[in-house]
Amino acid sequence: MELHLTSDTATQDENFAVDLVLGAPTSQWTGSPRDASNGEQFSSAEPNRRHLLLPVLHSIQAHIGWLSPGALNYVAVRLDVPPAEVHSVASFYDLLRLQPTPPNTLHVCDDIACRTKGAESLCAGLDKSLGKEGMPCLDGKAAWFRSPCLGLCDQAPVALVKSAGKSAKEWVIARATSASIQNNLQDCAKGGAGLKESQPLLREFIPQFGNPQLRLLRRVGQVDPTNLQEYLRTEGYEALRRAMLAYLADPSSDENANPAYWGPFSVVGEGAAK
Ligand code: FES
Repeated sequence: MELHLTSDTATQDENFAVDLVLGAPTSQWTGSPRDASNGEQFSSAEPNRRHLLLPVLHSIQAHIGWLSPGALNYVAVRLDVPPAEVHSVASFYDLLRLQPTPPNTLHVCDDIACRTKGAESLCAGLDKSLGKEGMPCLDGKAAWFRSPCLGLCDQAPVALVKSAGKSAKEWVIARATSASIQNNLQDCAKGGAGLKESQPLLREFIPQFGNPQLRLLRRVGQVDPTNLQEYLRTEGYEALRRAMLAYLADPSSDENANPAYWGPFSVVGEGAAK
């Protein structure tokens, strides 16, 4: 664990990955080059941005495939966070890697649920066909790792494929088989976008998948959950909009005046009435 900045410097690509989240530095205090006399001080006029530490680490991992000492130095300076804290967060998460790692990685969950569904034999198969866990394979373009729970225990055994780079991508392999994980990693190492059968089995997650009557989960698998514009395009907030319009049209109607009708929106209703 580094208590001080080291002499390692970030590459241009690493700087780019950090600046994507934080914006370009505007002064020496916000991360532009410092001279030897003030290079290890941690004080800035910037507001505290400690909460951006994980998003920044994710960005480097997604673009570069691992977190180098130079990249961690740059993060510490940009966020005005002690290097030891940056290192402790970066070393806590299994999917953030602190050693040079090939850009394409396969993470096979060997936690309890997946273990009961054959994860060990998947790992043994990879060991035979691709080599030891963590070692470069497929012409140095890929590596495989064991992983703690990936959060899809009901789809066990599960694996995750990640491809680092400017257009980073990742996908889950649910109900993984020896053939599906190897085919997906090979496809990923060749620059493919993932084989079709690797997608999560939506019909098993959501028995009513595709049914027009489905309300609450109807956007799952159809819309990027991180994109608000897509949510709005698919009638996101539409029910709330209609309810607000009805309230504004006649705040005193029996239905609209009844707080039970508004449930969690009752405070909004009262505010709109004033
Ligand atoms: S135990 Fe494998 S996804 Fe949870």
